[in-house]
Amino acid sequence: MEKKALFVGDINTDIMMGGLASLPVPDREITCTSFDIVPGSSAFIAASAFGSLGGAPAFAGLAGNDENGEFMLAAMKAAGISPDLVEKTQTVKTGVTVNLIQGSVRSQITYPGAIAEYSGELLTSEAIRAYAHIHFAGPYQQLKFKDKITSLLEKAKESGITTSIDTQWDASEKWQHLNAWMKSVDYLFVNSDEAVSITGCSGAEEACEKLALMTACPVVKLGKAGAISINSGRVIKAPPYSIQVKDTTGAGDNFDAGFLYAVLMKGMPFNEALHFANAAGARSCLYTGGTAAKSTFRNIIDFMEANK
Ligand SMILES: Nc1ncnc2c1ncn2[C@@H]1O[C@H](COP(=O)(O)OP(=O)(O)O)[C@@H](O)[C@H]1O
Ligand SMILES: [Mg+2]
Repeated sequence: MEKKALFVGDINTDIMMGGLASLPVPDREITCTSFDIVPGSSAFIAASAFGSLGGAPAFAGLAGNDENGEFMLAAMKAAGISPDLVEKTQTVKTGVTVNLIQGSVRSQITYPGAIAEYSGELLTSEAIRAYAHIHFAGPYQQLKFKDKITSLLEKAKESGITTSIDTQWDASEKWQHLNAWMKSVDYLFVNSDEAVSITGCSGAEEACEKLALMTACPVVKLGKAGAISINSGRVIKAPPYSIQVKDTTGAGDNFDAGFLYAVLMKGMPFNEALHFANAAGARSCLYTGGTAAKSTFRNIIDFMEANK
């Protein structure tokens, strides 16, 4: 039986209020023209994209014992994600983000709830052996859990499990533990702002070179400029796709899933995997929301062919 990839990260729902008549006004009520509740969370988007491509994703994280927690578990089921190591808490609610969207301006309010409380109780050395790969998504939101990641990376390595981290943004910009994580992790995913903040370099390419001195394989996502990586001393660039972008939500998570699927499930050489990931990120921008693209392996190959 094929081994699953474990996605460890936040569980939260996104409340989307679109077409605001104006930005919020103190002491006034304003209206919006669209309302949706959708599964949020970068780990969920990455796991679900990995599943659409043809992989077998599993999930580890903490949900509250409430309707939003149930909503996320149902969304995992629908996306074919096994909630193997999802825990539930009675003491805090599931995380929620309210997205207020006016034109291209998106203002967000997040209640971290269970995200910040997660401590990875079920992630024992025994439990992780069931997986071929572990991906950590957005560790800086997981205030309690992040202290455990260094030892989990080491345990994974001892058991022959490959690992990746997408740091996402660290609001403190201190990037605590990252030096230790970079020593053990196989693939580090960051976007250009994150790469620049982590290294103090002035540009993403220079930042990628600096990261390559600290970690085995930095992969830097450059938004509409594509992606860059350094593997075994070789700089590899994936040029951008010039496309009619609808929404970039979750592009980075689709990129991560594409890269992991290409390397783990298709055994693609590194440079091909980077191009595949770049296409997976770009294709997701053609749809609204992070999970709407539902790209299959074939979809990505066709997308690459059509946009050569
Ligand atoms: N405007 C865009 N046009 C084409 N591709 C894009 C665009 N924005 C993002 N992408 C694709 O998605 C990937 C991830 O996007 P990026 O914004 O860099 O990461 P993150 O979502 O992690 O901040 C990029 O490397 C690229 O492949
Ligand atoms: Mg990102």
